[in-house]
Amino acid sequence: MTSELDTLAAAYLPALEAEMRAVLGASDNDSAADPFLGMIHYHMGWTDAELRPAGGNSGKRIRPLLCLLACAAAGGDWRQALPAAAAIEILHNFSLVHDDIEDNSPTRRGRATLWTLWGQPQAINTGDAMFALAHLALIRLSERGVPPETVVRALRRFDETCVALTRGQYVDMSFETRDEVAVADYVAMITGKTSVLVCLAAELGALIAGADETRIGHFADFGLNLGLAFQVQDDILGIWGDESVTGKSAATDITTRKKTLPVLYGLSRNSALRALYAGDADDGDFVRRAVALLDESGAQTYAAGEAEGYTAAASANLAAAQPVEPAATALRQLTAMLLQRNF
Ligand code: IPE
Ligand code: IPE
Ligand code: MG
Ligand code: MG
Repeated sequence: MTSELDTLAAAYLPALEAEMRAVLGASDNDSAADPFLGMIHYHMGWTDAELRPAGGNSGKRIRPLLCLLACAAAGGDWRQALPAAAAIEILHNFSLVHDDIEDNSPTRRGRATLWTLWGQPQAINTGDAMFALAHLALIRLSERGVPPETVVRALRRFDETCVALTRGQYVDMSFETRDEVAVADYVAMITGKTSVLVCLAAELGALIAGADETRIGHFADFGLNLGLAFQVQDDILGIWGDESVTGKSAATDITTRKKTLPVLYGLSRNSALRALYAGDADDGDFVRRAVALLDESGAQTYAAGEAEGYTAAASANLAAAQPVEPAATALRQLTAMLLQRNF
């Protein structure tokens, strides 16, 4: 049976791709003629490494889908929110290009990361361009009949979110070399690096729909809690996920000593893991021993419970937002899917 989520995603996502292709100069598919833009098109999953058109893995497009669904669920026309959805997905992809350099990650979406193909200097520059292009994408709201004051508010919230996201990335990296990280510090960190952008997606959807402030607030809170659940699940998949399904390495979070939620839990309960992490090993044996000790301490069960808690909070926020059908059902399905995902 086709779900409401599948039906709406099938309507929204082709329009989203067209909007992003227009902003990123990919409408005519001639990426090889312009390798500067071509590198962006590669990262977006539209070309192969030789910049020939290809249907690669483009990612889940969760944030733009959430933005468009929130707009519809708040009583708006989802088409008006397309520039915001495109801007958020381009910004997300900018952050991934730089994140893969920062995390020394060789693989994303089952393909070589941009920096491993073109080098770190070019990958930094490509990310810079995508950051600016994300802003240009958002300004296109004014071409869709969105009132100027709403466009300015969206731009302000967009930049506030960018600052919070880069602060979250700063904290994430600073934790790699810090021994004592409290769960509250971790939650503040993932709020920045992940949750604020998911929050913005839901918030801008409701804002563009013309919802009142209370309702916008409920949609924003929904996104914030959904983003926390999403990142905890990402932490779990970063250790116990199947690389061929996630498209990402299941070792780098351990080798770079990321203070993910399962690791924090394990470190607080298992002295052998603490001793292991205090050393400087980063080989396959180190990863296997670390995962075995995490298993022993029940870290996966603990983290899964936390993800469930954030999901329950998100569901309560969504109910308070009084979403309208059929987008309401699709949002509930998206919430459940994100918790159960293995990709
Ligand atoms: C990956 O996000 C980065 C995180 C914030 C966890 P996604 O899992 O949404 O990445 P794609 O876009 O689907 O590849
Ligand atoms: C991603 O964080 C957050 C941003 C890119 C802002 P992670 O480093 O945890 O995500 P993955 O696992 O590489 O996708
Ligand atoms: Mg990272
Ligand atoms: Mg990373």
